[in-house]
Amino acid sequence: MRQHKILFVDHTAVMGGAELSLLDLATAYAATSKVLLFEDGTLRKRLKQQGVNVEVDRASEAMLKLKASGGLNSLASIPELWRIAGRVSRAASDCDAIVANSQKSFVTAALATLRNSPPVIWHLRDILTARHFSRVNRRVAVFLANRFASRVIVNSHATARAFVAAGGRKELCQVVYNGFKSEKFDLVTKDETMRVRSQLSIGNAPLVGLFSRLSYWKGQHILLEALKKLPEVHVILVGEALFGEQEYVSQLKELANVPELAQRVHWLGFRDDVPILMKTCNLVVHTSTEPEPFGRVIVEGQLAQKPVIASAAGGALELIEDGVNGCLFSPGDSLALSESIAKIIDDPSFAESLAQRGYQDAKQNFALETILQSFEKAISLTKS
Ligand code: UDP
Ligand code: GLC
Repeated sequence: MRQHKILFVDHTAVMGGAELSLLDLATAYAATSKVLLFEDGTLRKRLKQQGVNVEVDRASEAMLKLKASGGLNSLASIPELWRIAGRVSRAASDCDAIVANSQKSFVTAALATLRNSPPVIWHLRDILTARHFSRVNRRVAVFLANRFASRVIVNSHATARAFVAAGGRKELCQVVYNGFKSEKFDLVTKDETMRVRSQLSIGNAPLVGLFSRLSYWKGQHILLEALKKLPEVHVILVGEALFGEQEYVSQLKELANVPELAQRVHWLGFRDDVPILMKTCNLVVHTSTEPEPFGRVIVEGQLAQKPVIASAAGGALELIEDGVNGCLFSPGDSLALSESIAKIIDDPSFAESLAQRGYQDAKQNFALETILQSFEKAISLTKS
């Protein structure tokens, strides 16, 4: 098992969910494989710490900053894409496959097939809709996938459906969910969670956690709105604006700056101790206003044995059965969210049953080892 030699490529070294998942995959393949990044940053350091062979070929600022939602101006970067494609192809010369972890890296990998590279697999982690991707970008990506990808690994059926709706070939798709190690959550001690509560000075007040980069579509504003109806409740917002969304952060700060929310919204920034923070909460919420492709934070909340409330769209519908292993609410409906939070806080036995069933399901369906096996299978299909 895990004999394949893979070149993983990603354009970013910023730790989003896609990069956290890549870290797990590349670590599992560290003995045979390597990673090529188009910028330096935290991901390179984390990969190195895990013993993964990692190289950086820095792309220009202009290319790194290209917005997925941008239009035809992205065509201006074709000469640079071609140059990087050559680099990707050379780096992959002794590999069985290239796995591209992002749309930008996939475009270069697809071009690399014209330069004698091994087969290319796109690890598609985004829902390709107009909300996030311009028409041009969707068309180019889907055309390249249909023409040059040997496989499209998708992080949920929802992601697969959107790819097919955008014109992608269904038979290319193979669903591989994200995998998790439950030990990180199981090993958290009472002392550690008590320390967080005392640092926050919140005593035993009910605490709701939202663990997400600060970005409009992640819906932090929906939780702040819901909080106005929950006078006893405190909230931790864990995460920062990873991809330059400072304007939204200012709007959020303004929203929180009202007397009824005073002292109840705790801004923790980006943290590496998510398991401890989740374990400190009474419940974990996911509030995306757009369909979430997968939603790592939902499974993590379940592994922390907390009731999870998630926004009912996209991959979340594959993770949560409403009222059984978590709760769902209509995306953007802050009133429904506040009612769901109140119900769980007021009914400890309901909360406990959601948490326990969520924990069992997450452990059973998303254990890292099981997911690595389905990843290996998806890679193997390419070879036959
Ligand atoms: N996360 C983290 N520190 C933070 C906020 C989030 O490590 O301060 C992690 C979180 O635990 C999850 C990931 O970032 O594993 C976010 O992944 P998700 O799939 O939920 O959303 P994405 O940001 O990838 O769209
Ligand atoms: C992307 C998606 C997120 C998913 C993650 C890991 O960042 O936005 O929903 O969980 O990839 O596949």
